Amino acid sequence: MEEEQKVFKLNMAHFIPEELEEYVVTHSENEPELLQQLSRETYQKILQPRMLSGHYQGRLLSLLSKLVNPKNILEIGTYTGYSALCLAEGIQPSGELHTIDINEELFDFQRTYFDKSAYGKQIFQHLGNALEIIPKLDKTFDLIFIDADKENYPNYFHTIIDKLNVNGILLSDNVLWSGKVTKPVKDDDLATKALLEYNTLLKEDKRIETVLLPIRDGLTISRKSN
Ligand SMILES: C[S@@+](CC[C@H](N)C(=O)[O-])C[C@H]1O[C@@H](n2cnc3c(N)ncnc32)[C@H](O)[C@@H]1O
Repeated sequence: MEEEQKVFKLNMAHFIPEELEEYVVTHSENEPELLQQLSRETYQKILQPRMLSGHYQGRLLSLLSKLVNPKNILEIGTYTGYSALCLAEGIQPSGELHTIDINEELFDFQRTYFDKSAYGKQIFQHLGNALEIIPKLDKTFDLIFIDADKENYPNYFHTIIDKLNVNGILLSDNVLWSGKVTKPVKDDDLATKALLEYNTLLKEDKRIETVLLPIRDGLTISRKSN
């Protein structure tokens, strides 16, 4: 338990005091056992475990997915499969979740956990550069989660927007980028520059309505209205 608390503290960007964060987590849904296992194994074996969505954000992704009850879901940035499994909790029985990652070393790890879940047969992994894979997916989606390389967020938006159904939801992670979006930006900081462009794009594009939530590292919810 102490170990888990430590992981949780590392995992959260501290936009609110730690004791409030703990209260918030304590009064939200518990983390399912399979996701606890996945998280532990990621922290033990995989580089950069802080990339994993984690308990609190994971429960939010699960709840949002249940509210949308999507037929098809698209995820850009699978990592070890944590957020994919959270999003899958809301999928329709005949639906599909397509998740893309460029790192082939994670492929078998993801599959092991997908197959341990109730959603193994509905989750399809795609290995490679998301910008090349998305145009080849002959599907539209009710829920899309962008959580990959920040430099490409504006490109991801342009690539997915016609594949998002009307009333569909776009979720975008790390949009506050540890608060760098409000600080002076260095010339070579391409990630922050792209996120600034992306956040403006979401705010101004007339096809969507957007609310940026100051959760963890910033999570934007956008609904496609036309
Ligand atoms: C922050 S992690 C995703 C975390 C995961 N969504 C979760 O919450 O557990 C970002 C992932 O994006 C992948 N990635 C980076 N650039 C990519 C690209 N161009 N195409 C596809 N995946 C990419 C990385 O390999 C990494 O696994």
